[in-house]
Amino acid sequence: MRAIVLEKFGGLDSLVYAEIPEPEPLEGHVVIEIKAFGINHAEMHMRRGEWAEAAQVSGIECVGIVKSCPGGEFPVGAKVAALMGGLGRSINGSYAQFTRAPASNVALIEAELPWAELAAIPETYATAWTCLFRNLEIKQGQTVLIRGATSSFGQAAVKLAVNAGATVIATTRSAARFAKLEAMGASRVEIEGPDLSKRIAEAKQIDAVLDLVGNSTILDSLAMLGRGGRACLAGWLGGLAPIPDFNPLLQMSSGVYLTFFGSFVFGTPGFPLSDVPLQAIAADVAAGRLDAKPSRVFSFDEIREAHRVMEANEANGKLVVVH
Ligand SMILES: NC(=O)c1ccc[n+]([C@@H]2O[C@H](COP(=O)([O-])OP(=O)(O)OC[C@H]3O[C@@H](n4cnc5c(N)ncnc54)[C@H](OP(=O)(O)O)[C@@H]3O)[C@@H](O)[C@H]2O)c1
Repeated sequence: MRAIVLEKFGGLDSLVYAEIPEPEPLEGHVVIEIKAFGINHAEMHMRRGEWAEAAQVSGIECVGIVKSCPGGEFPVGAKVAALMGGLGRSINGSYAQFTRAPASNVALIEAELPWAELAAIPETYATAWTCLFRNLEIKQGQTVLIRGATSSFGQAAVKLAVNAGATVIATTRSAARFAKLEAMGASRVEIEGPDLSKRIAEAKQIDAVLDLVGNSTILDSLAMLGRGGRACLAGWLGGLAPIPDFNPLLQMSSGVYLTFFGSFVFGTPGFPLSDVPLQAIAADVAAGRLDAKPSRVFSFDEIREAHRVMEANEANGKLVVVH
């Protein structure tokens, strides 16, 4: 089969097309004929060698058709999504014609949508949904701040939170992007910056912060919460450097919660993929209740261009590759 392999760690030229053997059926696993896949920052970090592990074939998610499933967990021919479970990290991933994912990391996604639109859903929406409704436990009427909201993850979170009846405040570094976030239902947009807690009108009254800027802003996110408020750290748009000299005694408010989510736990005990209503999310998209359209769709031959767009911060939403 055709695959895109990581020839070395580094720039765009590390991604190279090659013929490699198709994955064989294996008990507890699903071989998927890949129709489309989303592009993720994780794959950029793996390409650069910034993460602990990177498989020969990158790609942490895909949508496609079940080719074989010896355990019978999914019918052959079913439309499925696969994400995480080591894909692209410890086992070959989705930058190929076929992949073999653990059954624990596969979900039916039967909605009547073009493959490119289906492919924009799995990783982004599963993660956004889990952060909002599990880690942050957001409820109708609460005020939720989403930092790094123009990212594809952020946009998904804005839309899900708005649909859930929360009042959403979104952040971007660029005033030119305010209108886009307002059109998604954000009640207000703030300029992203490390001192936001000092500028924001709702200081000490925010119920929840989904922080995708990351380690550089999470303490500021904690500083704007009201009592019982939660901040979820789930993205690193501001860089992977650790929080220097974190001293909760001096830097944390009383009564606030700090929580973390990494989608690599999907499919492990305690984090079954079945917890996430992927099928219902896809149905909402198909019915027009949720807009999950990718911002750019690339062909399989354009992987370097897709990574370039992601790296140049030109994505403006979810990037998807179709076969
Ligand atoms: N926890 C998890 O399981 C999980 C899962 C998926 C993704 N993630 C992480 O979530 C983040 C978003 O991923 P994505 O694929 O959705 O990203 P993306 O769409 O490529 O994000 C692009 C956005 O990032 C913002 N940005 C870039 N550099 C920034 C900086 N230095 N400070 C603040 N904002 C910056 C830009 O916003 P403006 O220019 O508008 O400010 C841009 O619109 C990544 O860090 C990714 O690794 C985590």
